[in-house]
Amino acid sequence: MARPRRYLVCEPRHFTVRYAINPWMRQDTEVDTALAGRQWAALVRAYRDHGHVVQCVEPVAGLPDMVFSANAALVLAGRVFGSRFHAPQRQPETAAYEAWFAAAGYDVHRSESKCEGEGDLIPAGRFILAGTGFRTARAAHHEAQEFFGVPTIGLQLVDPYFYHLDTALFVLDDASGRENIAYYPAAFSAGSRAVLRRLFPRAVIASRADAMAFGLNSVSDGRHVFIAPQAGGLIAQLAARGYVPVPVDLSELLKAGGGIKCCTQEVRP
Ligand code: ARG
Repeated sequence: MARPRRYLVCEPRHFTVRYAINPWMRQDTEVDTALAGRQWAALVRAYRDHGHVVQCVEPVAGLPDMVFSANAALVLAGRVFGSRFHAPQRQPETAAYEAWFAAAGYDVHRSESKCEGEGDLIPAGRFILAGTGFRTARAAHHEAQEFFGVPTIGLQLVDPYFYHLDTALFVLDDASGRENIAYYPAAFSAGSRAVLRRLFPRAVIASRADAMAFGLNSVSDGRHVFIAPQAGGLIAQLAARGYVPVPVDLSELLKAGGGIKCCTQEVRP
């Protein structure tokens, strides 16, 4: 069942690929910023067409990755757990996002340890799924658990192409007790794969090709799944389960290692 959501996004007005902080990025890659802007605008339109509220934070010149708003925080039950970015190049984003949250009436608790928001902390019904291995420190999982009072399930990421949890897993249904996910098992350690099987026996299992097409960097409202059109196999699997895939192509942003979910911060009331 679809539930209307509130999403915080940031226009890629200053999007470039000058530095490389994940395996998808090549230093000084040519980027078509106007194309990135049109692709991003189509994502915003798709959200609004499906009844979701979209709010924009003003982009800051010199912060090319600010378009990836998911990384700024985790917002749950109206409370903001702010990020502490791993890469020095992204650390100045914190001030811009904290200012937006403050203006919107939220107090921001900034993580004590390295933490990249919804990139690695993903609410799924009764749990927060929490990735570590490349960006977010394990200590931040504990801190988030204490802050929200929601059990965090630590998951070990092992493949540098899937450096954030939201590149390897997304939540299809976040209703408590009915939670379900889609994921790519080989992105996780053996122990974490076993945890996912135990918690989500009905999960949709994605192929490497669909994961490499950023098909798991998707956003679901419980019914519609905003997903990269290149992830054809996963799109078919989701449709067979009764979900409605809504393809949105963010190929230009993929040059920075980001997709649909990376560009989307969910503000949960
Ligand atoms: N270039 C950005 C970085 O490496 C991409 C972030 C993608 N965001 C995400 N939620 N996976 O930090």
